[in-house]
Amino acid sequence: MADKKTAIVTGGSRGIGREVALSLAALGYDIAIVYIGDESEAADTVRDCEAKGVQAKAYVCNVASFEETKDTVAQIRKDFENIIALVNNAGITRDGLIAFMKESDWDSVLSVNLKGAFNMIRHTAGLFIRNKCGRIVNISSVSGLMGNAGQANYSASKAGVVGLTKATARELAPKGITCNAVAPGFIRTDMTKNITEDNSELLRTIPLGKMGEVSDVAEAVVFLLSSPYITGEVLRVDGGIAM
Ligand code: NAI
Repeated sequence: MADKKTAIVTGGSRGIGREVALSLAALGYDIAIVYIGDESEAADTVRDCEAKGVQAKAYVCNVASFEETKDTVAQIRKDFENIIALVNNAGITRDGLIAFMKESDWDSVLSVNLKGAFNMIRHTAGLFIRNKCGRIVNISSVSGLMGNAGQANYSASKAGVVGLTKATARELAPKGITCNAVAPGFIRTDMTKNITEDNSELLRTIPLGKMGEVSDVAEAVVFLLSSPYITGEVLRVDGGIAM
């Protein structure tokens, strides 16, 4: 059907990605979730998207793998019509002080957070270019803008996502494709479950004085996906931390 539109959301099984998937489903997007890990979380998100009247499916795929992402995107293209949006949200942390950081922790964070976004853009760009239509949003982090002690790998990966976003935006702009980033601060998800309202020192670094919710990030993603004239932008959703 001509009015069908599909969004691919990596890391869409839970947390921020789940909220992005649900928000886009509410807007009538069919949803292809790419994830790794807990199958029941993914099944819940698929069911909750379908409850909004759209088609949804979850694909187990390690975004760090060039081959797996290639095969998964090919499968999504068979299963869904009119793929117009890609949200690169899958991400991990392996925190540690740089003097002690394991090589494997550096490699895995860079592979998932940065190469993962590259892989997904790489395998969808041809389609977007042919259709002269596509909207990409990459999830960065304030850690990538400011640097965060104990997160050299994560900060580097998220700064890399900003560079990837801007280069992609410039390269694909002549084809009418936009590419933007959202840089969240501290958002309440599994990734930040060790941060509580009792961490008052941390909360003092947030001008708005509280952690953000997944809906705050999802709203920014939806906004950037809807705009035809914003590209190469990095939108902070951080309560003012990195201003
Ligand atoms: P989460 O840990 O709750 O969810 C991560 C998602 O990524 C899951 O769906 C998981 O299946 C998927 N994932 C992880 N590794 C993967 C891999 N190799 N291949 C495919 N999928 C994979 O994380 P959360 O908090 O929802 O974060 C989502 C994004 O937002 C991440 O990129 C994270 O770095 C970023 N972010 C989160 C912040 C926070 O405070 N929660 C702050 C700034 C950025």
